[in-house]
Amino acid sequence: MIQRIIAVVNQKGGVGKTTTAINVAAQLASAKTPVLLVDLDPQGNATSGLGLPSEQAVRTTYDTLSGQAALAEVAQKTHVTDVFVLPANAHLAGAEVELVGRPRREFVLSEVLAGAASYSYIIIDCPPSLGLLTINALTAADSVLIPVQAEYYALEGLSQLLSTIQAVRSSTNPKLELLGIVLTMYDKRNSLSEQVQAEVQNYFGDKLFSTIVPRNVRLAEAPSYGRTIYEHDRWSKGARAYKALSKEVRARL
Ligand SMILES: Nc1ncnc2c1ncn2[C@@H]1O[C@H](COP(=O)(O)OP(=O)(O)OP(=O)(O)O)[C@@H](O)[C@H]1O
Ligand SMILES: [Mg+2]
Repeated sequence: MIQRIIAVVNQKGGVGKTTTAINVAAQLASAKTPVLLVDLDPQGNATSGLGLPSEQAVRTTYDTLSGQAALAEVAQKTHVTDVFVLPANAHLAGAEVELVGRPRREFVLSEVLAGAASYSYIIIDCPPSLGLLTINALTAADSVLIPVQAEYYALEGLSQLLSTIQAVRSSTNPKLELLGIVLTMYDKRNSLSEQVQAEVQNYFGDKLFSTIVPRNVRLAEAPSYGRTIYEHDRWSKGARAYKALSKEVRARL
């Protein structure tokens, strides 16, 4: 099977990037298709969301980017079968600054991930910015998955994100594809959600995944236990949504 690298990106904070990265990673993983979740956010939420205390991680994504450690030395097994994580913590904030002075600074992550050939899927959880870390993710990835929160300002910032993707295509990564947009935290009691859905549908057409992730308290609880949604409450609406989304992701890949 050919390896697929997916960057989960949106410069807006709190839209569901990490929740999506974790729960799609867990669903795509199997013995034949091991998954590496790259935590590229100094907040370390993908790391802690998988139950690894991010502040205690000895070696982190930062060490791979700075060349102090190889990916194989840093990637950790998680309690989720066939899911591995490249953990991050606050140290990663320094990388954003340090990368600026590096030659081929957009390609640093791409070169690190060359050491990850044994994974079938690599999912990169990006920070809420379009800085150099995110540019590295877009340069390393085959495709981009964009979570969009179903709220009033949902489309704000998306044109900037799309033009960044276009700029990456015409400079460091011509093969970068838009995998799709997923609406998150959808509240069907709120008529605004419906309106946002129509707008996003109109703007993105069939790039919008037909699965919509509802606002679901079980999804909000799971990371505090370091659990995926399937472990936390496999029958929840959130679990069903992320299963369906992962199926669509696999089909599009
Ligand atoms: N569908 C959902 N229903 C309810 N709560 C959710 C849902 N998705 C995510 N959350 C919660 O909303 C918050 C933001 O989600 P998440 O951390 O996934 O967003 P993010 O885009 O990664 O944020 P950041 O930009 O800070 O990295 C978290 O507390 C998360 O548990
Ligand atoms: Mg996050």
